[in-house]
Amino acid sequence: MVKKIKKREEDKNQFIIETERLILRNIDLKDTETFLEYRNDPLVAKYQSWEPPLIREQVSDFINNLQTHKIGEPGKWNQIVWILKKNLVHIGDCALKVQEDTMQAELGFTLSRNYQGKGYAYEATRALINYAFEELGLHRIFSITDCKNTTAIKLLKSLGMRQEGHFIENIFFKGAWGDEFLYAILQKEWNYP
Ligand SMILES: CC(C)(COP(=O)(O)OP(=O)(O)OC[C@H]1O[C@@H](n2cnc3c(N)ncnc32)[C@H](O)[C@@H]1OP(=O)(O)O)[C@@H](O)C(=O)NCCC(=O)NCCS
Repeated sequence: MVKKIKKREEDKNQFIIETERLILRNIDLKDTETFLEYRNDPLVAKYQSWEPPLIREQVSDFINNLQTHKIGEPGKWNQIVWILKKNLVHIGDCALKVQEDTMQAELGFTLSRNYQGKGYAYEATRALINYAFEELGLHRIFSITDCKNTTAIKLLKSLGMRQEGHFIENIFFKGAWGDEFLYAILQKEWNYP
């Protein structure tokens, strides 16, 4: 699939990336309901840090606290939502945290079950990684996933990320010890669109 990635507009707090089928922008309070809906899906939450049900106040506090974070600001998570261009529906999000003083960032991603299997997560994460290397000038991007999270692993591999770590029972997660993979890619390895 050929994907056009176009940066449309950016200032410090309001950042927008446009891809072939998606608009990526900072999360906003108006995203609360859709965010709640897909994050409360037990299958979507299965390998994620939260346990459904999340409640509205938790999510609106979470979003409120992110409003002052500038894209790429070291030490701060940015939550970027994915909006379908054709109907402006909010279908997923990714999180990016640039670490302090390292020029490296951690990436996370979540897509509503209704929209999985259509390449949207690939399109969105590819655009954000591209932005992070090209515009933020980062050196390395990494992502950590449960070893059983096959769709996430597939996505990370399709982005060209390399498995660099395999942690054994490094996390007590949802009632049991879990294993995690670390995937990463360097800026010099990135295949720019
Ligand atoms: C991880 C997650 C984002 C992956 O979503 P996804 O939709 O499978 O990922 P992609 O966007 O890469 O889509 C790939 C699939 O779309 C298909 N596809 C359909 N149209 C496509 C297109 N135009 N372009 C690319 N792929 C397309 C691919 O063939 C592939 O299908 P397959 O998995 O049956 O082979 C999703 O499973 C999810 O949100 N999981 C729950 C949250 C989670 O665990 N997050 C990770 C935490 S580390």
